[in-house]
Amino acid sequence: MTFERRNIKNMAGYVPGEQPQQSDVLKLNTNENPYPASPQVQQSLSAIDVEQLRRYPSPMADQFRQLAAATFSTSAKKPLTAENIVPTNGGDELLRLAITTFVDSGDSIAYAEPGYSLYPVLAAIQDCQCHPIALTETWSLPENFADQLNRSGAKLAFLINPHAPTGLLCSVQRIAQIARSFSGVLVVDEAYVDFVDPELGYDLVALVNELDNLLILRTLSKGYSLAGIRFGYGIGSLGVTQAMLYKTRDSYNTDYVAQQIASASLQSIDYARITWDKIRQQRQRLYEELAGLGLISLPSQANFLLTTVPGPIGAKSLHQRLKQLGVLVRYFDQDRLRDKIRITVGSAQDNDRLLQCLKTLLG
Ligand SMILES: Cc1ncc(COP(=O)(O)O)c(C=O)c1O
Repeated sequence: MTFERRNIKNMAGYVPGEQPQQSDVLKLNTNENPYPASPQVQQSLSAIDVEQLRRYPSPMADQFRQLAAATFSTSAKKPLTAENIVPTNGGDELLRLAITTFVDSGDSIAYAEPGYSLYPVLAAIQDCQCHPIALTETWSLPENFADQLNRSGAKLAFLINPHAPTGLLCSVQRIAQIARSFSGVLVVDEAYVDFVDPELGYDLVALVNELDNLLILRTLSKGYSLAGIRFGYGIGSLGVTQAMLYKTRDSYNTDYVAQQIASASLQSIDYARITWDKIRQQRQRLYEELAGLGLISLPSQANFLLTTVPGPIGAKSLHQRLKQLGVLVRYFDQDRLRDKIRITVGSAQDNDRLLQCLKTLLG
């Protein structure tokens, strides 16, 4: 006997990366930030009193939304306001909200493949169809990506930038061109955007008020070292944010504690920026030292490297052997990725340990 809807009965749930609780395990498998959040975040957490939890929180995280609008308003022409910001319980909730709001059951969503394996799971929950579009040989978007989106009839498309699991960055111009040509809502998943080299001048938020079908996903999980509190947000024109803010969002979808911490983290963004810089330096070092061991990675703009493991050891076995030594990296048992591992960039000491283990295993 089952009470589930047909599509729920037929689907498989999302499998998160391993989250072991022992402190001696080196976790380089779920792209967490190796450095703690800022001292201001710690102070804000310490200042919370149970008395403040007696009441409901601000329904729409107003303080955070105002701070986010002020912090990311790069376009002088039309600055962002709180109405451009949708606060969510982690970036994952924004993905679910976007599908709930813009895609009917029976409609379809599209995304580049390989990508984030949560997308097809959310589509299955909504009972909508999926159109995966293969990345090219060089892991870029196919030239006719927007045409393919339109031909698929997708109401919504996901684009990860920098891409996961490759770490490659697509230019603002290319994304703008896709958004202009696509007839549905384009969600650009910027979960890893904080790690992009600032010298590249990448800034998609400046186009939010020009492209009325663009919704940008951000999260505090990676760049702000706050995966544990579950806070993300969307940035978009009012055409995409209003229905999510006022119709489909749960009334109190982010809690008081998370809101306080999220606001403190934006108020101390300069501290987070220091961690992004250190991670970029370690990313370059890891890229080079892995190459010295015969492990070639793609040039990543995220906080991880997708690294090819040549035979005879192979990626799956290397992943297993690292695990036996207490080092977790990510292995994806899927097309085009079976000869690769994804390694989160750790602190200098984390990377020392990883490289030492690799030297031992690879002789
Ligand atoms: C591509 C991508 N998008 C979105 C997310 C959502 O992150 P969170 O729900 O922790 O904000 C993740 C998390 O790993 C991710 O890898």
